[in-house]
Amino acid sequence: MASVTYEQATRIYPGADKPSVDRLNLDIADGEFLVLVGPSGSGKSTALRMLAGLEETNEGRILIGDRDVTNASPKDRDIAMVFQNYALYPHMTVRENIGFALKIAGMDKAEINRRVEEAAQTLDLTQYLDRKPKALSGGQRQRVAMGRAIVREPQVFLMDEPLSNLDAKLRVQTRTQIANLQRRMGVTTIYVTHDQTEALTMGDRIAVLNFGVLQQVGTPRELYDHPDNVFVAGFIGSPAMNLSTFDVDAASKAARIGEASIPLSQDTLAAITPEDNGQVILGFRPEALELVDGAVASQEHTIPVEVDFVEELGSDSYVYGHLAGGSWRAAGRDESDAGQIVVRTPPLSGAREGDVIHVRIKDGGLHAFSKATGNRI
Ligand SMILES: Nc1ncnc2c1ncn2[C@@H]1O[C@H](COP(=O)(O)OP(=O)(O)OP(=O)(O)O)[C@@H](O)[C@H]1O
Ligand SMILES: [Mg+2]
Repeated sequence: MASVTYEQATRIYPGADKPSVDRLNLDIADGEFLVLVGPSGSGKSTALRMLAGLEETNEGRILIGDRDVTNASPKDRDIAMVFQNYALYPHMTVRENIGFALKIAGMDKAEINRRVEEAAQTLDLTQYLDRKPKALSGGQRQRVAMGRAIVREPQVFLMDEPLSNLDAKLRVQTRTQIANLQRRMGVTTIYVTHDQTEALTMGDRIAVLNFGVLQQVGTPRELYDHPDNVFVAGFIGSPAMNLSTFDVDAASKAARIGEASIPLSQDTLAAITPEDNGQVILGFRPEALELVDGAVASQEHTIPVEVDFVEELGSDSYVYGHLAGGSWRAAGRDESDAGQIVVRTPPLSGAREGDVIHVRIKDGGLHAFSKATGNRI
């Protein structure tokens, strides 16, 4: 087992004008499960392939343990990779599929069998060892692909969206299995996904990439509670954090947009710079909002929300709406949601399409970001 270190690691594809992975600095501890997450094209696969030696590192270094592997060939790196499109050999049994790489490497038969059987047990595949892949379910095939990586007993596992071919239910099941398996085996693992829910539920820590640049790395809790910038704020969490640009009214110590008013702390006001042009980006999660009585609302700092539709989930409900009588200036990632405000309420709150409800941000629920830089203030 080993730690993994990216040091200013950069990948510029031939002919590209900017790096696909840009001066990445990342320390992954021995035995850690790190999830690399980001939108499509953000450089996740490239970063993983650089570690595997499948992609050249143009600047910086990559270390496995104390060993600089920046220029080592893939086979000398002692890593095993599970891809999204793992191809099993159709004419081979599960046993042969799992043991194939070991056989090619010339390992003796008894040792191959020992490792294959141990992996099959770990993955709950023992009863399928003599079957061909076509007689397996999608989830079982996916586990065979994992088995091929496990038997190599590598120092590091790399997984690139290994669950994306599975249906939603199986994905949830399998992600729990992978996370448990990783914890049991204790092998340093880097897991790539574009799905922030997968990232939140699986990782010891999460590293968020956007345009090849590392945005933040931390525990799921840290990223959720304390996003370093607007991008991470909008990317982590579902439904996403409500984000909008507000005008700062220093005299009344509040931020305003249309009829909405949010009190600002002295610290937040003090952190606003001339470059921000009198504006601030504020964010608050759906669960950080609470309903306020309409009569009280007019005398308080509240946000009037015109309800578009209500999603009843049984345990609670989500009210989807927009700023009543004004326009939200969405500052988040997903432009398609521009203008939407989501409020989590107790079930059957009574809010209906067309109603105007008033909400307030609970204590500690407000996130403020610089308009100029997007960074947390
Ligand atoms: N072989 C290549 N040659 C040139 N550009 C490439 C190559 N592979 C990837 N890129 C570019 O590098 C950037 C990062 O790609 P990468 O595959 O690492 O993204 P990703 O985060 O894995 O995305 P996805 O979630 O869609 O898999 C993209 O802009 C992509 O177009
Ligand atoms: Mg990819």
